Amino acid sequence: MNSAIIVAAGSGVRFGGKKPKQFLEILGKPIIVHTLEKFEFCPQIDEIILVLPAAEIENFSKIAGKYNLKKLVKTIAGGDTRAESVWNGLSEINSAAAEIVAVHDGARPLVTVEEITKTIERAKETGAACLAANVTDTIKEISGDKIIKTVDRAKLRRALTPQCFRYKILKRAFEENKSENSAATDESFLVENLGVEVLIVEGSTRNIKITTPEDLILAEKLLDSHQ
Ligand code: CTP
Ligand code: MG
Repeated sequence: MNSAIIVAAGSGVRFGGKKPKQFLEILGKPIIVHTLEKFEFCPQIDEIILVLPAAEIENFSKIAGKYNLKKLVKTIAGGDTRAESVWNGLSEINSAAAEIVAVHDGARPLVTVEEITKTIERAKETGAACLAANVTDTIKEISGDKIIKTVDRAKLRRALTPQCFRYKILKRAFEENKSENSAATDESFLVENLGVEVLIVEGSTRNIKITTPEDLILAEKLLDSHQ
């Protein structure tokens, strides 16, 4: 049994606005539904656990029925940090049946079924896999307002999602990293801290996270060109 945990319990401070960004519509459909559909259409995914702000669960249940999300088995409340939200999702997984867990940002509706599939496949072989994209800008390490050095960008990757792990590895990463949890902005960080190797799977730079209003404009164009 492969499970997806879609975390969408953030409040979107950097995006601003009244509604959290994941509920805004693109091409007539909420961003979160675009994201959920990618996992619904992925044959490797058996069940989806959706993590939302507590105050949005009832509203979402009303609209979710409009979409044919057969794999969406649970919609639960998140926590104050992304790591807490993932942990809440993880607690809903049946440990006896669990194989791979794919953790994905609700705010990344441009992920493809192929990206999800190949990240799960790699995690099945190795235990831990992270979708990642090349860095195209020249990156500087700084101190205050001064450049210390130029980092070799060929050795850098941007961590995307999904990030996929054997259930037991991810569970242990959370249990053994309690103090680091709140600072973690992705799951690979926690798994790296266990000393477990995380393999990179090449992802597309199209798989953007909607963080600011400018990202929404880009996401709209990209989603339109997909269809
Ligand atoms: N997320 C979550 N629970 C939190 C914080 C974030 O489930 N307590 C989710 C977001 O909903 C998003 C993903 O994690 O889908 C990536 O986070 P980010 O883009 O930072 O979203 P927000 O935290 O909502 O935005 P901001 O940091 O600007 O407030
Ligand atoms: Mg955030």
